[in-house]
Amino acid sequence: MIKTRLKSENCGELNLSNINQEVNLSGWVSTVRDLGGIIFVELRDRSGFFQLVADPQVNKNIHDVFSKLKNEYVINVKGKVTRRPEETYNEKYPTGQVEMYPEYVEILSEAKTLPFVLDDENVSEDVRLKYRYLDIRREKMLSNLVLRHNIVTAARNYMNNLDFLEVETPILIKTTPEGARDYLVPSRVQEGKFYALPQSPQIFKQLLMVGGIERYYQIAKCFRDEDLRADRQPEFTQIDIEMSFVEQQDVIKVVEGLIVDTFKAAGVEVKPPFIQMPWQEAMDRYGSDKPDTRFGLELFDIGDIIMQSEFQIVKSTLENGGIVRGIRIPGGAKYSRKEIDDITKLAVSFGAKALANIIYNEDGTAKSPVLKFVTEEQAKQIQERAAAQAGDIIFFVADKPKLVYDIMGRLRLYFGKSLNLIDESKHNLLWVVDFPMFEWSEEEGRFMAMHHPFTSPCLEDLDKLDSGDLGNVKSIAYDIVYNGTELGGGSVRIHSSEVQKKIFKALGLTEEEAVEKFGFMVNALQYGTPPHAGLAIGLDRLVALLARTDSIRDVIAFPKNSGAKDLMSDAPGEASLQQLRELHLKSTAHQHK
Ligand code: AMO
Ligand code: AMP
Repeated sequence: MIKTRLKSENCGELNLSNINQEVNLSGWVSTVRDLGGIIFVELRDRSGFFQLVADPQVNKNIHDVFSKLKNEYVINVKGKVTRRPEETYNEKYPTGQVEMYPEYVEILSEAKTLPFVLDDENVSEDVRLKYRYLDIRREKMLSNLVLRHNIVTAARNYMNNLDFLEVETPILIKTTPEGARDYLVPSRVQEGKFYALPQSPQIFKQLLMVGGIERYYQIAKCFRDEDLRADRQPEFTQIDIEMSFVEQQDVIKVVEGLIVDTFKAAGVEVKPPFIQMPWQEAMDRYGSDKPDTRFGLELFDIGDIIMQSEFQIVKSTLENGGIVRGIRIPGGAKYSRKEIDDITKLAVSFGAKALANIIYNEDGTAKSPVLKFVTEEQAKQIQERAAAQAGDIIFFVADKPKLVYDIMGRLRLYFGKSLNLIDESKHNLLWVVDFPMFEWSEEEGRFMAMHHPFTSPCLEDLDKLDSGDLGNVKSIAYDIVYNGTELGGGSVRIHSSEVQKKIFKALGLTEEEAVEKFGFMVNALQYGTPPHAGLAIGLDRLVALLARTDSIRDVIAFPKNSGAKDLMSDAPGEASLQQLRELHLKSTAHQHK
């Protein structure tokens, strides 16, 4: 405790051991209750609450001041800690057995009536964000920020003990390709040129390895101009890590220790090693590269059975590179026509062209619109493949692999949630490994890096790079997944400028473009680059999950809303014409006015 003229003790820490002690307290008036002349005030500071009492019989002056107090006034009081009458003990608070009849009171600051009642859970998030400085006074927000601090402290301690150096990397940089859109900052002194804000410190941390730092970490701010969701912010924080002379398993081991310590800071015990699941297996079983393994409902493949049938539409989908995956819903045979229609509509909203179903009735018969295409025997085989019992329903979709995985993965989550199958007490951590190096982008009409272009391809797949068989090149990349959320991701990096050039080429960059964009990176790789690898954990997601809140906004002091706006300061704001002129910019928004 730092003792100052205005404060000798924390409100929330006083108890029977402080009886008769003279203390000096400052804080906010949390509640004022006037009980027939005697005024009770709950004084609040960061540590908790403490009861003050003003009795006109005891001290008229103090009572006069107390009668002026309103919620959220900031006051200073001095006096002796006394024991409450036993029948008024309040077990809810650690300080519930003590109180003070102040001998001195001073109003340090008055407060207008607050725009919302602090502990009202039904206040809209917009209002809370507009007055975030008040929202932070709420116990929930405070405890989230404390948890965040404790997790960051645990991470720093862990990394420091393993000899990692925390190094800051620049915020004004040249664009880093991580797949999202960059935030650009116009340069005043270099007309027509722009900095980008880093989507991550990726290139710089690799250059620190070239620089011989060997073990780096940073609690790093990252910026991505992407569409926002509950688990995404335009600026967010990573626990960013890079190491030299290591392989995938070394990074995994270090990160597992980090997970243990950060989880422990939140009171959660987890035990490594965590399962390592190949990407293909995760997709096949869960339809997701971040599988929630807290419940079953695993997908199954009935492609071989369909190929024997007369189900022409689906057969031709399979013949054209498509796949078919199904899911079994126990007890689903009782679904009404309408319920099945609603589930089908849901699948269509996920992008399905159709969702087939087969009901396996209690009496052993099957019912389905697709029975006209499959024989009774094939329906039996499908039932066996699905491990379906009498009384179950199965659903399946055939289409391009990416779409099928996505639709079925989302349907699985829908059923997991709506059927209450998720055991919330579980802490399932797993690694997804062996990611494909490239992903076909329909939008761009080309292959894109699934992680980022500095990820090392599997060495045995190098010849596929040359032959252009990009869809089958695997990478040495790994993600850490917690209860169905991607917490972090990383990879072994390319440390050969030759391989790096090949990857740029595979991504469709001409040699000139590669030099223009990443020349300094390819150059650096030529001056003695150690094999290196790393990973970044999304700190906001980690804290949100451990705080058991759905939105990362709840663990960020001053977040943006879903429109990327700061409702409190009203950022982004307009720039003056003078500012724009200095930056050599013309705003079309200004012209329209
Ligand atoms: P990646 O892009 O997978 O990897 O990001 C790592 C982790 O950062 C978190 N994250 C986000 N959190 C909040 N809001 C966002 N908009 C957001 N975007 C990402 C996620 C994610 O798992 N440079 C590589 C890491 C590496 O290879 O070392 C990278 O940034 O939890
Ligand atoms: P119909 O339209 O009556 O000839 O029947 C076609 C059946 O095939 C319907 O039950 C559809 O749900 C199913 N179906 C069609 N295309 C697909 C697909 N891509 N995936 C799964 N089922 C399909």
